[in-house]
Amino acid sequence: MNSTLKNERVLLIGASRGLGYAIAAEYVGHGSHVVATVRGEARTALHNLLDIAGELLEIEHVDITFPEQVESLRRRLASRTFDLLFVNAGVGVAESVADVTTSEFVRVMVTNALSPLRVIETLGDLIAADGTIAIMSSGQGSVANNEGGGFDIYRASKSALNQLMRSYAARHRDDARTLLLLAPGWVKTDLGGPHARLTVEESIPNLVRIIDATRGHAGLQYLDYQGKIVAW
Ligand SMILES: NC(=O)c1ccc[n+]([C@@H]2O[C@H](COP(=O)([O-])OP(=O)(O)OC[C@H]3O[C@@H](n4cnc5c(N)ncnc54)[C@H](OP(=O)(O)O)[C@@H]3O)[C@@H](O)[C@H]2O)c1
Repeated sequence: MNSTLKNERVLLIGASRGLGYAIAAEYVGHGSHVVATVRGEARTALHNLLDIAGELLEIEHVDITFPEQVESLRRRLASRTFDLLFVNAGVGVAESVADVTTSEFVRVMVTNALSPLRVIETLGDLIAADGTIAIMSSGQGSVANNEGGGFDIYRASKSALNQLMRSYAARHRDDARTLLLLAPGWVKTDLGGPHARLTVEESIPNLVRIIDATRGHAGLQYLDYQGKIVAW
């Protein structure tokens, strides 16, 4: 156990598998107490972590695209305070402008851009005054770095997320909390696919170190898993 870890009470949204699961496992491994969410009642990879984590892990339920579920989670957690709120939930989409349906476009935008901000608007006051609110963005959300194109719709959803988070930060400019948009690198998960550049082990322990290291720095930063600033 690492008693110097600064985010000891973690609320993690979207942790059934992939990067979210790995973030939960990393914090539990450091001795933090983690409330992590899945959607639905099915058993997930996160449930297997319960066997190792014991009381360090609580599993909650929310689909972030249903505001009433987010409100309900807020009510269940009303008496709690967390050091870190991390909204990891997100979806990928391979289609481009030429072939995406309007309903798929809306689904991706609502999931990746609107819903994470709704989550932090609803749950933000559960976070300690010197705590951190983080959202999983992507390097693909960078407008400045988009030289190669591809994955237009996914990119656009993460750029919209970044813009909404900048507006949130502007509205909360006197807030002492740390605000983070994070780019984990291209990682082998269901979303990243088998040909991704990084393994989960190469991304997530670093990413968690960066989150903990930035605690206490008020204002918004867009950082990659190595702590480098990503161009907006
Ligand atoms: N892998 C990469 O290369 C990469 C790169 C940059 C950014 N990211 C971002 O990192 C995050 C995690 O990605 P991943 O690679 O771990 O993908 P993943 O393996 O597909 O996992 C996505 C996670 O998000 C959850 N989720 C999706 N929609 C949700 C909703 N409406 N409400 C609640 N939870 C929801 C999923 O839950 P279910 O199991 O219920 O579907 C799952 O836990 C995403 O935001 C993604 O955009 C990934």
